[in-house]
Amino acid sequence: MRRKLAAGNWKMHGLAADLAEAEALSKAHPAPRCEVLICPPATLLARLADTLSGGTVAVGGQDCHTAAKGAHTGDVSAVMLADAGATHVIVGHSERRADHAETDAAIAAKAASAHAAGLTAIICLGETEAQRDAGETLAVVAAQLAGSLPEGATAANTVIAYEPVWAIGTGRTPTIDQIAEVHTALRTHLRSALPAEGDGIRLLYGGSVKPANAAEIFAVADVDGALVGGASLKAADFGAIIAAL
Ligand code: G3P
Repeated sequence: MRRKLAAGNWKMHGLAADLAEAEALSKAHPAPRCEVLICPPATLLARLADTLSGGTVAVGGQDCHTAAKGAHTGDVSAVMLADAGATHVIVGHSERRADHAETDAAIAAKAASAHAAGLTAIICLGETEAQRDAGETLAVVAAQLAGSLPEGATAANTVIAYEPVWAIGTGRTPTIDQIAEVHTALRTHLRSALPAEGDGIRLLYGGSVKPANAAEIFAVADVDGALVGGASLKAADFGAIIAAL
């Protein structure tokens, strides 16, 4: 049985004053049915971990380097995230694939580094609009999955997030059938790549998830939760999504 996960990705949003939103969320949902995670910008991670300590909301990073330490100005390692109180880290988000030219191989290395630091890696993948229009969605996500999964991925240390690039921050979502088609395909690939673990690895949907569409998306077989951007910034909106899981 896979426990559902509601993960909030604050992206490059959030100042100290916004910690109050996370605190309000934690207080409003002291015993959620699902696992809840907030991934703030690196500047807030330690403070958010402090603010939420003793509650049920976990804290994660948004990216990590492949190395544990070294001469990498501006980067943050998985070990540092764990030291700051993180339990998870997002890797391979499409914004990083696009803005920082991250390859599947680099993402697999980041996920391996996360595992070595004891973190759960949330590996993101998803097609562009042009790829969907060209009928390439299933091939694209299958290749991304195969290339981004590190050796040693397990149900405990790995989560996959399907985020169609064209649905991120646009208010547009795939149809329920389209989400189901991709999640079913990803589950099949996971079962065949990792016979002992593939069934237990959670598959999140991400891309314009909001209170109004959450319940319908969560009802899809093999949708084990959501990776939420904009709607995770406000306690009321993220709380409504959590309640739908
Ligand atoms: O990682 C979450 C994300 O990319 C989706 O963003 O704002 O469409 O929920 P949003």
